[in-house]
Formats: sequence, structure tokens, C-alpha cells
Amino acid sequence: MKFTNAIDKIKEDGLYRQTQSPDCGRINFCANDYLGLKNHPQVVAAFKRGADKFGVGAGASHLVGGHSFAHQQLQEVLADYTGQEKALLFSSGYMANLGVFSALKEVLNWVLQDKLNHASLLDANQLIGLPLQRYLHNNTDALSRKIARQSGAGLVATDSVFSMDGDRADISKIGQITKQSGSIFYQDDAHGFGMFAPNIPKNSIYMATLGKAAGTMGAFVAGDADLIDFLVQKSRPYIYTTAHPPALCMATMQSLELIKNGEQRAKLFANIEFFTQFSAALELPIEKSDSAIFPLIIGDNKKTVEIAQKLSNAGFYVGAIRPPTVPKNTQRLRITLSSEHTQSQIEQLLLQIKDAL
Ligand SMILES: Cc1ncc(COP(=O)(O)O)c(C=O)c1O
Repeated sequence: MKFTNAIDKIKEDGLYRQTQSPDCGRINFCANDYLGLKNHPQVVAAFKRGADKFGVGAGASHLVGGHSFAHQQLQEVLADYTGQEKALLFSSGYMANLGVFSALKEVLNWVLQDKLNHASLLDANQLIGLPLQRYLHNNTDALSRKIARQSGAGLVATDSVFSMDGDRADISKIGQITKQSGSIFYQDDAHGFGMFAPNIPKNSIYMATLGKAAGTMGAFVAGDADLIDFLVQKSRPYIYTTAHPPALCMATMQSLELIKNGEQRAKLFANIEFFTQFSAALELPIEKSDSAIFPLIIGDNKKTVEIAQKLSNAGFYVGAIRPPTVPKNTQRLRITLSSEHTQSQIEQLLLQIKDAL
């Protein structure tokens, strides 16, 4: 089988994707390391201590000897941090989403998802063979109307902070709607965890990733003890894979201490404020955001890549996001801020964007 024609077509459409090293001298405005914890000396030191103590790998899956003291301790710390009865670690957020859906498959008759949910939630839906039903983005009236048309047990899933838009779901309102309808509420807080205090309505399911603001890797699901026990029994992406390295758990526990302390968060929010004001002063058409993610809609594949390339030549690494990651005609630059950016770097980036547009 030849793939060349398919690849040529992808290139022709301006949709060709390539890995790019963040370490080539450019200032990185597309990472999800919002609090700069990935390189924090205390987090790195905790990781090294973990490797000295536990070795590099976990050596096995959680249920067959790979679940170390560090995994257990991190689960307890995460349950405590989120105010839930229990937490369960997964190797990544992608697997956590697949893992929860696959476990709940037999109890669900329907699933409703926000139109702009992350690809991993859509893939999780596909995995369990239920039709993908989506409600208008961030529109709780549309959600209520769609729930009213369902029958049997169901689940409502939403990103808490939308990964390509930076806006936030109304978690409390969705929590009320799902409570009234007797459906299960599932929130994916990949981009909110560490930045905002978790808002977890009673009896809902919370998932967050550790590879973004926490600066490490992995993910967890938190909720009631019986839910977590059910996942341990039924979630194939939890059961049939090697546990992630215990040293990462040590690093994540250190990240959590820094998150609780709040120093990096304060710097990040100061940067968000500065970015918002300076981009408004330059009259840049950057969408408003409730988080560290700022989209600048370009609406064309090739133009988006061209502008990202111009910024790259000027020393700034910004994501060029195209379909299928975002809907057609909303191709964009996705600018993400970190506590580690200086205001001068932000100023320079925005001036370069003004020039490039
Ligand atoms: C909303 C959302 N959920 C889940 C994931 C997957 O998380 P991970 O990178 O840990 O697999 C991502 C990653 O980009 C995300 O943005």
C-alpha cells in the first residue's frame, strides 16, 4: 500500500503536520506548561529522587505489581486536593477519557458532548459505539433541550477550559442540569487543573491531566469511592497498560505543593492581564479568553501556517492550528502564556503579530 498520494493531498490542502522541537532558541508561546513547572528545579529534583528510589519504569501494570507506594500516595494527595473520596491515576489524559467511557459503556444509553470538546472525548465516544451527539458550544439551553430528548441513563461531557479557545464551561450550571435530569456529569479539566480551583459538582466525575500546568505527565480521575472502584474493575485503558513511572508521581507531588503555594499562578495571571491589555491597545483581533489560551482566528490553512512561520523566523514559537483539531474556517494561531514569560517577551510577540497580519 502506498501512502504518498494521501500525503501529497494533505500537503496540497495546507494540512500537513510536522513535529517541531521547542528547544531551538525560539520563545515558546504554544506549550501547556502554564506555570513553568516542567523545568522547576524542585520538580526536577523530586523526579531524580524518585528515579533513585524506584528506578525508571513502573515495571508492570497497576493491578499486576506496578502500583508503587508513590502512585498510591499521589492518588491520595489528588483526592485530597480535589475534595473527592478517591482518585485513580491513568498514564495520560487521552487514556483517562477512553478509560472512563469504556468502563461506563454498559450503563450508558446516550452521551452528549459540547461541540468543541477535545478529540480524546470524541474518540472515547466512538470507542463505546454510541452516536456522537453534540450540543451548541457552551450553550446550556441547547444542552437542556437535547437532554429532554434522550431516554435512559446518559452522560454529559465537557472540557472545563476549551483547549483551542480558552473559554470556560459553566460547570455549576451543567452540574444543576445533569442533577435534575439524573444524568452523569463528566468534566475534563485538562487546561484548568493547577490554574483554577477545581469546581466539582456532587456525584460528578472529574478528570484532569498532569502534563499541562502540573508540568509532568499522566492524568487522574477523581470522584466517589464506588466510581473509582468500578473503574479499577472495568476500565481497560487502566487495566491493560504499564503504570506510568513512579518518579513522575514524586515530581507531580512536588508540583502540587508549588501549585498550592500559588507563586507561579500569580505571575501567570499578571501575564494574562498584560497580554489582554497590550493586544487590545494594538487592536489585534485576538479572541477574549478566560484562561492562558488565546486564539487568533485566521480562517485559512496556508495563511495560518505562513503567519506562524513568520513568527518563527522572528524567534517566536506559536501553534498553527487547523482542521480537524478546530472546525473549518476557524484555523488559528493558538497563543499560550506561561508564568515564565516576561512582559517584554509578550510585548515583542504582539508587535510581531501586528506586523505579520
Ligand atoms: C481537553 C483535553 N483533554 C485531554 C487531553 C489529553 O491529555 P494528555 O495529553 O495527558 O493525553 C488534552 C490534551 O491536549 C486536552 O486538551
